[in-house]
Amino acid sequence: MHWNIGVALSLLATTVTPALAETTQEVVNKASNGLALTPPMGWNSWNKFACNVNEKVVRDTVDAMVSSGMRDAGYQYVVIDDCWAGPRDPNGFITPDSTRFPSGIKALADYIHSKGLKFGIYSDAGRLTCGGRPGSQGHEYQDALTYARWGADYLKYDWCSTGDRNAKEAYAVMADALRQSGREIVFSMCEWGTSQPWLWAKNTGNLWRTTGDIWDSFNKNDKEHSWAHPVTDIVDFNEPLWPFAGPGHWNDADMLEVGNGGMTPAEYRSHFSLWAMMASPLMAGNDIAHMDETTRSILLNKEVIAVDQDRLGVQGRRVWKEGEREVWVKPLAGGARALLLFNRGEAPATIRAMAEQLGYPPGLRARVRDLWAHKDRQRWSGALSAAVEPHGVAMYRIDP
Ligand code: GLA
Repeated sequence: MHWNIGVALSLLATTVTPALAETTQEVVNKASNGLALTPPMGWNSWNKFACNVNEKVVRDTVDAMVSSGMRDAGYQYVVIDDCWAGPRDPNGFITPDSTRFPSGIKALADYIHSKGLKFGIYSDAGRLTCGGRPGSQGHEYQDALTYARWGADYLKYDWCSTGDRNAKEAYAVMADALRQSGREIVFSMCEWGTSQPWLWAKNTGNLWRTTGDIWDSFNKNDKEHSWAHPVTDIVDFNEPLWPFAGPGHWNDADMLEVGNGGMTPAEYRSHFSLWAMMASPLMAGNDIAHMDETTRSILLNKEVIAVDQDRLGVQGRRVWKEGEREVWVKPLAGGARALLLFNRGEAPATIRAMAEQLGYPPGLRARVRDLWAHKDRQRWSGALSAAVEPHGVAMYRIDP
């Protein structure tokens, strides 16, 4: 080719222009399937219904997601977790449990789509799921094809009964099978952080669980199940992993327990706020068709949701801690910050945040919005302090 200025300019126009639309960080961080550029939001059946899920529960939930305003607030994926599967047919294709899903999965997915929502399904990288249903090992391409034919938009892929399988290989096979299925399917990895997926799964999955299962408690361990963790334990494990999250690949702190009854309203507000600060997926895990007003007001706090969904896609972190008092900061697009004052203690506490903790010069002035009171506060000029209730938070958006 004979080079001249015209050729050079046209090359610049085609190759450079798309990158200019996004920051370098936004481009580099994209997972190879290009999905989940903000943390996935939706509902998952497990925390509330476990193996008692059926097509009526899912349909009622879908209807309530629309009527409660959850769909319009961004909750998009309706994920059927474990126990939907029945046996494989003679050709090895998976079939649904015909007692729980007599109309079949395709009909349910069609219903979900007809309401403007997306459909998620569950399987496992081993021979059996954690609930003892058939897993996908040895059937990965066949299962991905089945999910695509049913119209799945999301797959949660668990790690029970995997024996000595290598996680990197097992998840890469299913990631490839999903890509080959011809449908865009968000890939949610659920191997509980066992093999540190944050170190290798950026181009494999769109999200990965970082811990064992959540337990509906603020800070008490479940004595019967060592793999179940209260909110504060999950937070302490997930927080240091902030450098590994970004658009298309998120640290998954597990599904929400908001509304399931084990915590006080203040504790549920803390749980929800911390998940948003950590840019964790927000998958409601309660009975949406029968939720009370307090639960609704937490799950539908659009100002907190906006922190989670901020397009910069940086996971927030703890910048200060003294005893039971903590200050958390999450950088947001355009130079704004989300600020969380978190009181883990049993008594009310005054917590103070300083400009340098936010990465702001001391003289900077900024608008301060209280995200739980839904009110503007006095303008930021170097510091902010608040009295925070026991096990509670105060949460702000700071706009210079
Ligand atoms: C594992 C997962 C849970 C849930 C159950 C289903 O424990 O971590 O989130 O999917 O399996 O059996």
